[in-house]
Amino acid sequence: MENSDMTDQINILLVDDEDDFRRILSKRLTRRGFYIRQADRGENAIQMLEEESADIVILDIKMPGMDGIECLRRIKKMPGMTEVIMLTGHADIQGGVEGIKSGAFDYLSKPVELEHLIRKIKQAHHKMQRIQAEKEEAAFKERVTQQMVVAERLVALGTMASGVAHEINNPLAVIQDSAGWLQQILDKPQMQDMPRRDDFQKGLERIEKAVKRAGKITQQLLQAVKTQTTEMADPSSFVETDLHKLAQEAVTLVEPEASLRNISISLTSREPHPSAWTDPLQLLQVLLNLLSNSVQATDDGGQVFINLAATLEEAKIIVKDNGCGISKENLARIFEPFFTTKEADQGTGMGLYVSWGIITSLGGLIAVESEVSKGTTFTITLPVKK
Ligand SMILES: Nc1ncnc2c1ncn2[C@@H]1O[C@H](COP(=O)(O)OP(=O)(O)OP(=O)(O)O)[C@@H](O)[C@H]1O
Ligand SMILES: [Mg+2]
Repeated sequence: MENSDMTDQINILLVDDEDDFRRILSKRLTRRGFYIRQADRGENAIQMLEEESADIVILDIKMPGMDGIECLRRIKKMPGMTEVIMLTGHADIQGGVEGIKSGAFDYLSKPVELEHLIRKIKQAHHKMQRIQAEKEEAAFKERVTQQMVVAERLVALGTMASGVAHEINNPLAVIQDSAGWLQQILDKPQMQDMPRRDDFQKGLERIEKAVKRAGKITQQLLQAVKTQTTEMADPSSFVETDLHKLAQEAVTLVEPEASLRNISISLTSREPHPSAWTDPLQLLQVLLNLLSNSVQATDDGGQVFINLAATLEEAKIIVKDNGCGISKENLARIFEPFFTTKEADQGTGMGLYVSWGIITSLGGLIAVESEVSKGTTFTITLPVKK
């Protein structure tokens, strides 16, 4: 076969107003394994690129309407990393130079020698791949740095908050004991006719409720910090876990709340169902936190999706909703302990902090993307193997 290395993947748009030239060149390049589309005018080329981008554009300079240089400038403003090879008339070196100044990869004079053009295409493609790889690497580094910054902040906040929680536990215990003692007194027969006894009783009940709530929060916090500081979750609680079954369980638990407000939760996963070597109870807790956040963030009739996928190394659990979304300022803080935008009786702001701690201790990562009034996507990545 003439198809050589990887050429079949290169996506080319050939732009030239000379029909015969364009058709013949397209045919030859197709025969050599390139994927070719054709445009006879600059305007059409731009429109085609908006619909589907190209790796390489081969662009005639002299065309009626939008000329090659103008077309090149517009291509360079488009997102994507398209490289452009200009074709000039045999005496039009000036046009080629102009093209290079405006960002073209190179220019060739007509008549075009096929092998020469193919070499240029491959060089341009190579450059495109290199730039793409550099961009991906930069993005990856940025993500890792960000995650490290977040992790450091969360650990520091957790340490501080758990210090406070310890301190608060003692006075809480005193308040609870004292309230119990007052209740005992109030229950004595000789106190039954005490003036304003009902008010005292109500006051005591309120104290008890508040103490319970504060106790629950401190307990949650201490628990979360403990999971994180032990670094790895207890391996004896790890089992081969069918993630589809686990997700189904989480959906079943959240569904009553969702269906009250006509919110659908759909679970999809690729066959065979992904599984991971992990702690199912902890992971279930995370899924419940994410799903209930999504349900709470979504208007009546909204949609929540949970999608599973796995490779040999890692499993991905994606929880997505078309709810209210999260603003940029809030997005930077949602994993912090006690960060909440909900009313005091609706949320303590511990759900995501606890979830982050669990996923970290399971050796995984949790990431979020969100757009205000469009929705939110949480992605959990977990190692699959022991
Ligand atoms: N899917 C989501 N859509 C929109 N906002 C969200 C979503 N998930 C989390 N948030 C935002 O992040 C905040 C923190 O979430 P987190 O689960 O930690 O606490 P909470 O839900 O407020 O309270 P808790 O989970 O303790 O009951 C929420 O108050 C909300 O503002
Ligand atoms: Mg929550």
